[in-house]
Amino acid sequence: MPTINAIILAAGEGSRMKSNTPKVLQQLSDKTLLRHVIDAALPLGANLNIVIGHGAELVKNAIENQGVNWVIQKEQLGTGHAVQQVMPDIDDDSVCLILYGDVPFIQSATLSALLSKAIETGFALLSVVLANPFGYGRIKRNAEGQIVAIVEQKDANKSELEINEINTGIMAVKASLLRGYLDNLKPNNSQGELYLTDIVEMANANNVTISSCICDHAAEVMGINDKNQLAELERLVQQKQVDEFMANGLGVKDPARFDCRGTLSFGKDCVIDINVVFEGDNELGDNVTISPNCIIKNSKIGDNSEIKANSMIEDSTIGSNTAIGPFARLRPESHIGNNAKIGNFVEVKKSTIGNTSKVSHLSYVGDSALGEGVNVGAGVITCNYDGVNKHQTIIKDGAFIGSNTQLIAPVTIGKNATIGAGSTINRDAPDEKLTLSRNKQATLSGWKRPTKK
Ligand code: UD1
Ligand code: CA
Repeated sequence: MPTINAIILAAGEGSRMKSNTPKVLQQLSDKTLLRHVIDAALPLGANLNIVIGHGAELVKNAIENQGVNWVIQKEQLGTGHAVQQVMPDIDDDSVCLILYGDVPFIQSATLSALLSKAIETGFALLSVVLANPFGYGRIKRNAEGQIVAIVEQKDANKSELEINEINTGIMAVKASLLRGYLDNLKPNNSQGELYLTDIVEMANANNVTISSCICDHAAEVMGINDKNQLAELERLVQQKQVDEFMANGLGVKDPARFDCRGTLSFGKDCVIDINVVFEGDNELGDNVTISPNCIIKNSKIGDNSEIKANSMIEDSTIGSNTAIGPFARLRPESHIGNNAKIGNFVEVKKSTIGNTSKVSHLSYVGDSALGEGVNVGAGVITCNYDGVNKHQTIIKDGAFIGSNTQLIAPVTIGKNATIGAGSTINRDAPDEKLTLSRNKQATLSGWKRPTKK
């Protein structure tokens, strides 16, 4: 196997995005466009050479990869000129794989097939047949079906414009051949640029057979130039992914209203209702139900648990047979046990909630450790922050916290302790006892309501 040099062109401005972010850093599903291209090239064992220009520093900083050879193209004088900038760093006996930072959905398997052909013949091109080929370079073939040239939209005559097979731009070429052709490029075209596509005609004149791969899926080679195309491809990516999930048994009420920006693993009989968004890496056990409008990020949910509508869960774990929501918020590092309940309008942060414990209504639980069988009444809050430091609240097994209690941390509530409703607790409460802090109730007999004058 020769060395593979992926050359990713990413120097263009992408002005049609009308964005302060360079085009190749726009987000598709869970990654930037450029990251998608890199991740398609990496399984091939390719060296990465990335040509940058517009927003070069931003692009470089956004990609965490020590191994990239970043090459600056100061002026964007065409795709051929862009590849020329990399050639001093390329070994003659390697194979170059030309990729585009704005063609993000290309799949490794397609590239691998293209490379095999290039290793055989020296030159392989990826094309696709489109009903509407407008804007793309057209593939010209001779009577024997051999590729002889690529004609750009702006340079094509009437009959050439009718060709439906177009150049995806993606090609694999032996470096020694590529170098020779690039040295001879001339800006003889309507845009005055050095076109990479002109090397096809040169190879043909040189009697090098140009093999072709015709890509079956137009989405794979779709170029992204504006927000419309970005949204269109996002839907295609999501649809492909949810089709695979459903084929593997995930229940999805409406695949058009399901988004997973990352990875998702799931057991049997899970059901996802509409408008659920998964981000990062998530894991569902068997028989997990997720009701509408939930956002779930980097979390793990155990068997038979139910996430009710409008809940948000982030960097957390949930045991089995547990109910969350509706309208619950689990902030990072929340760990909820089995057979537990987090009810409506409850916020939990960096806390563990033991098995069978319940926090059912309108509470804030932060920096806390709750044991098993704890019952937290409505409107209980942990006062975990003194304005500078965060403090711990510990509630031991079987404790019962009466409604509307404030637990001023650091504080420990003992095993099977009961806290009377409406208490402000700032000292530890012992095991098994009732503790309360409450002003004596009074009734003033002589009092009269003020009246308007
Ligand atoms: C190019 C092809 C066309 C093909 C189409 C597929 C050429 C001459 N034409 O046209 O046949 O159908 O892609 O999408 O190659 N870039 C640089 N430096 C430059 C110019 C471009 O890095 O000087 C980068 C751009 O950022 C972009 C890519 O190369 O990622 C393609 O350039 P673009 O100008 O969009 O080429 P097209 O006109 O779309
Ligand atoms: Ca383009």
